[in-house]
Amino acid sequence: MDAMLANVVDAVLELSIVGSFSRIGYAVRRRLHAWSDPVPGSLDGQTALVTGPTSGLGRQAVDELAALGARVILVGRSPDKLAAVADELTERHGEDRFPTVEADLGSLDSIRSAVEQILASEERLDALVDNAGAIFPERHEGPDGIEATLALLVVGPFALTAGLLPLLRRTPGARVVAVTSGGMYTQPLDLDDLQLTSTSYAGPKAYARSKRAQVTLIREWARRADGLGVRFNAMHPGWADTPGLAEMLPGFHRFMGPVLRSATEGIDTLVWLVATPDAGIDDGRLWLDRRPRPFDRIPSTRLTAAERRRLWREIVDLAGVEDPLPEPEARPSA
Ligand SMILES: NC(=O)c1ccc[n+]([C@@H]2O[C@H](COP(=O)([O-])OP(=O)(O)OC[C@H]3O[C@@H](n4cnc5c(N)ncnc54)[C@H](OP(=O)(O)O)[C@@H]3O)[C@@H](O)[C@H]2O)c1
Repeated sequence: MDAMLANVVDAVLELSIVGSFSRIGYAVRRRLHAWSDPVPGSLDGQTALVTGPTSGLGRQAVDELAALGARVILVGRSPDKLAAVADELTERHGEDRFPTVEADLGSLDSIRSAVEQILASEERLDALVDNAGAIFPERHEGPDGIEATLALLVVGPFALTAGLLPLLRRTPGARVVAVTSGGMYTQPLDLDDLQLTSTSYAGPKAYARSKRAQVTLIREWARRADGLGVRFNAMHPGWADTPGLAEMLPGFHRFMGPVLRSATEGIDTLVWLVATPDAGIDDGRLWLDRRPRPFDRIPSTRLTAAERRRLWREIVDLAGVEDPLPEPEARPSA
């Protein structure tokens, strides 16, 4: 099929949502664009960090990055689960290159300790994959008094990325990849009520808003890091059959079961973004199936550049960190 026709078919698929997010979208695009898999050994000598490596997409991602040769830092909240994954990876890949770091991504203290541990032990960081996630049925606040969804999906990963930025900057070609959700298309972000104190709470709504904030921040990271040598991108996996999806959205999981992607299909774009030299070089994008996709499908959900900058400032404050990438005019002169 010629490239123009392939692009038209892809765009029509994207508009259909179910076609795009399901395994149909993955299968059609793989054939349409004749994808090749990352070259074996392409991550030899590189270090990747993955949050949420103990289940679902993160578990599959660490296996595939390890298979490409990466040393993989496993960041999770359960020491027992982390140790089990590290053992499985060591056995499967025949080398002990899977350090574990305990961190609850919803707790800033925990993230600060993890950052210290990583900065003290690692010489390079080629890829940071922000993958851990959850949907909470009831509104509650984490240990820092921040609404738990925002804390886990936005503030915690921001603090982790900010803390590890010096290491990323020292590593040529480093990348940050955020695993987001197509659910974010359904929700606007209310900058006056980021923690959902004055609107009624529903878990999927809170999740979709936080995922929108996560993608918005990726755009800001990319804009502010221009020229620093670190690329920032978000990708969404479509709908993939994972323990998390089955537990958090059981009705959806049952209904969509036959067309859900496998975890491998869900993370294909993540692995491609990490392991392909030029992938995502024009960064600050939202990817699905190896192509940049729109940030918004509903005009009223769109955030202006000024609103994106405001979100950055709000999250810097909530994360309790020094602004990791101030606007150029606000940077201290050399
Ligand atoms: N599956 C899908 O269709 C789909 C669609 C769109 C987006 N996503 C996104 O993909 C990512 C992975 O989801 P999944 O479907 O693979 O879910 P999953 O099977 O539930 O895995 C979630 C992972 O996040 C970790 N995690 C949760 N809360 C944490 C915390 N407070 N601190 C540290 N780690 C924590 C879990 O650790 P434990 O093992 O300790 O619980 C687990 O390793 C999430 O960001 C999700 O929003 C998934």
